[in-house]
Amino acid sequence: KHLPDIDPSKLEVTKTITPKELVPNQDLVFGRTFTDHMLSIEWTASQGWLAPRITPYQNLSLDPATCVFHYAFECFEGMKAYKCPKDNSLRLFRPDKNMKRMNGSSARIALPTFDGDALTKLIGEMCKLEERFIPSEKGYSLYLRPTMIGTQRTLGVGPPGSALLYVIASPVGPYYPTGFKAINLEATDYAVRAWPGGVGDKKLGANYAPCIVPQLKAAKRGFHQNLWLFGEEEYITEVGTMNLFVCIKNKETGEKELVTAPLDGTILEGVTRDSVLALARERLEPKGWKVSERYLRMKDIAEAESEGRLIEVFGAGTAAIVAPVRKISWKGQMIDCGLKETEEAGEIALKMKGWIEGIQYGDEDHPWSVKV
Ligand code: COI
Repeated sequence: KHLPDIDPSKLEVTKTITPKELVPNQDLVFGRTFTDHMLSIEWTASQGWLAPRITPYQNLSLDPATCVFHYAFECFEGMKAYKCPKDNSLRLFRPDKNMKRMNGSSARIALPTFDGDALTKLIGEMCKLEERFIPSEKGYSLYLRPTMIGTQRTLGVGPPGSALLYVIASPVGPYYPTGFKAINLEATDYAVRAWPGGVGDKKLGANYAPCIVPQLKAAKRGFHQNLWLFGEEEYITEVGTMNLFVCIKNKETGEKELVTAPLDGTILEGVTRDSVLALARERLEPKGWKVSERYLRMKDIAEAESEGRLIEVFGAGTAAIVAPVRKISWKGQMIDCGLKETEEAGEIALKMKGWIEGIQYGDEDHPWSVKV
């Protein structure tokens, strides 16, 4: 039987009667303040997707036996809406990518899939309603958090018979409280984030909670984030919640190369990762750069540094866009990632930030920036 998909034409809107006061941009802390409304769409195995609702932002009320609390039936997305300072148009950045990834995440944990264009349309409606919360200042945006949970009330371990997809929105500035500053990393050698055959490429809440202790341990030793390695060879994989990019000079030819880990199922398929790669192929390759999705070992980075071939390192994610790396601590060595003491970012990280923000805020017309 063909069950109904998400249908934007059935949207019901209930506006708040107690609008919130706006928090000034400079006081925004990532993910702490939320807009007036939320979007909710319920699903049941027998009825499919029910009518979408935009309501005042409110608590959920769930039975303590609800399966999300016991077996982690939860996946989410991170995406942003921007306001173009030129014409006040509202724009989403590559929403199709988030929809595709969310469907992949939900399918992997036996939650329902949905029409991504329909959800994008509804998110657009929500953005219009929350327009006053969307800053137009560079570096500021509305972080959108589509979330799906299994809502069946059962301790039986099985596919949820009901689910809730909701979207909340939070006006945000720079991800790190320190602003756009280079970060120091500690390579984690006692824990792994993801493994072959696992779910490291899915955006499941369950992938994030186990990352906090290694992050705290790194923080205790004075590092901003931990660097996730994999296997005996110590392949570099991700940094904190971001993908990692390394710029190195080839040992033999001196050719400059931008490297990130390949999508082998252990790496989150970052939208920013994909954007950095595409822009590098379009705008850096013609300038002599090589762009590679390949394995890179920790010892390759250490060797490049000792031979003066390590140009720069940066993380890439939706929340921070790019996060330049100054140092990596690994096996008692401190690897210097090539920034001058007075510099907070390398040339490539800065270029990427400029290009990506230029597209996001509509300075540059680009198919990735989708008007709502
Ligand atoms: C990102 O870097 O965009 C993230 O995934 C961070 C998010 C979990 C807050």
